[in-house]
Amino acid sequence: MQRTLSIIKPDAVKKNLIGKIVARFEEEGLRIAAMRKVHLSKREAEGFYAVHAERPFFGELTDFMSSGPAVVMVLEGDNAILRNREIMGATNPAEAAEGTLRKLYADSIGENAVHGSDAPETAAVEIDYFFRATELN
Ligand code: CMP
Repeated sequence: MQRTLSIIKPDAVKKNLIGKIVARFEEEGLRIAAMRKVHLSKREAEGFYAVHAERPFFGELTDFMSSGPAVVMVLEGDNAILRNREIMGATNPAEAAEGTLRKLYADSIGENAVHGSDAPETAAVEIDYFFRATELN
């Protein structure tokens, strides 16, 4: 059993896609262990994406992530990190496989509908950024 952090990003929330995306995770056998709607400040977005601080798109990324409400979730299941990444599809929706969330719902590499942790170490850090242990159940 593994846990991963998932974010429904502001573009997908704006398009009223929360229900469809959550339903997809559940249909694929992932369980929602925790979930909250948040509106990140610019500083909170910068903290979350600190590993990308030196990237040229950091300003654009953190402006976008703080531009409106998002949904943060912990998904749980066998191989949850990889399963979530398969369900999301490639970071760039132009390269995402048919049927993936990014192919279905994302407009661009910057506004790409969902985020998912990429490894066990980052999943632990990212889950801890948003949730206390007692909120996971
Ligand atoms: P995410 O999985 O949330 O992790 C980092 C994010 O940076 C990524 O999704 C993209 O939305 C964003 N990103 C990656 N590359 C670019 C880029 N070239 N231009 C803008 N945003 C990017």
